[in-house]
Amino acid sequence: MMIKARSNQWLRHTLLCVFIFLKLGSTSQEGMTIIEGAVAKGAVCLDGSPPAYQFDAGFGDGLQNWLVHIQGGGWCNSVQDCLSRTYNRFGSSMKMMSSDYNFTGIMSNKRELNPNFYNWNRVVMRYCDGSSFTGDVEAVDPATNLHFRGARVFDVIVEELLSKGMKFASNALLSGASAGGLASILHCDKFRTFFPANTRVKCFSDAGYFAHVKDLSGGYKFEEYYNQVVTLHGSLKNLHPQCTSKMKPSLCFYPQFVMPYITTPIFILQTTYDTFQVQNILAAPLADPRGLFTNCKQDINACSSAQIRRLRDFRSGFLRAFLNVRHGSSRGWFVNNCFTHGQSEPQAKWLGNRSSKLKRTTIAQAVGDWFYDRSTVKMSDRRHVLPQNCIN
Ligand SMILES: *[C@@H]1O[C@H](CO)[C@@H](O)[C@H](O)[C@H]1NC(C)=O
Ligand SMILES: *[C@@H]1O[C@H](CO)[C@@H](O)[C@H](O)[C@H]1NC(C)=O
Repeated sequence: MMIKARSNQWLRHTLLCVFIFLKLGSTSQEGMTIIEGAVAKGAVCLDGSPPAYQFDAGFGDGLQNWLVHIQGGGWCNSVQDCLSRTYNRFGSSMKMMSSDYNFTGIMSNKRELNPNFYNWNRVVMRYCDGSSFTGDVEAVDPATNLHFRGARVFDVIVEELLSKGMKFASNALLSGASAGGLASILHCDKFRTFFPANTRVKCFSDAGYFAHVKDLSGGYKFEEYYNQVVTLHGSLKNLHPQCTSKMKPSLCFYPQFVMPYITTPIFILQTTYDTFQVQNILAAPLADPRGLFTNCKQDINACSSAQIRRLRDFRSGFLRAFLNVRHGSSRGWFVNNCFTHGQSEPQAKWLGNRSSKLKRTTIAQAVGDWFYDRSTVKMSDRRHVLPQNCIN
């Protein structure tokens, strides 16, 4: 039985590799690498398959620069929920295709679309654990075969990249969007430790500042959800020790409680009306059992004036959760009010002729100016207080 299952797996895997190889024949870049050797270290995706990354080589004067971007994709908080991921690309490298992740926006290799990072070595860490790469549980329940090993996956991918030349980097940026943006915050100081002191290492989080703010029920239902995530995945030992020595692990999954301890320079790109947060924190089904916000949370044009007032309170709560943290001079941010989620990967949001701007600066320029210390970039939109429909 066992051997049969294994050889089936092997066959599926081989077919997938052949398929990817053929696909790459036509797209010729951003090839996916599966780190087979990671299995022996127990650094695996939820289903036990080896982790994967996609790489597009740097060129010109970007050859010594590395952008490591962590893909998003939410979390899983129960065995059932995590099991469902093993059937898709967020829990198994056997279900991943290179076309699941397109290199646009901050990952683009075109100067006019991505002026500061286009010629860097650009890597996407494919998300496959459901805990923002914080999990580490040794035991594997044979009944489910679920592996909670996200933190090991993170380390193994970074180590592989170091051995592929990243250890000689002049500049390195750990980046990520959504759950990946949260991962880039949570792992920022750890990422720093992989490099010598003379490497310029920074972190960038897009849409990863999930705020601990009151929801419609007047409580914090999302914290309960996070508590289930960190418990199931055994995340405690991979959260910031200075935070976990003072508060519950579930709180140390929130940037506002971890940021005070992060010493590596970090940039926060965030909207105060993040659709994910409005839909899943403020007006999550558990927080809005009567579904009063069902239409408004999908489309701001459907909100009543009372609902808009509630959204504005949410924005104020977010700003307190962000600005009350003492941010040192190495930090940067771009905080706008677009009703959207994630602004670094979609080209039109990152850099296009209709992209959001603050002080006439695009997001792409703001992040570049901060990375290269060309100017202080601490920008938040005070002019508009209402949620804005920016680019869809
Ligand atoms: C990436 O681009 C391909 C080709 O245009 C498309 O089929 C695919 O759906 C895209 N993937 C994502 C995640 O947008
Ligand atoms: C924005 O760019 C698109 C595509 O390049 C172009 O068709 C359009 O005219 C541009 N709009 C403006 C206002 O420049």
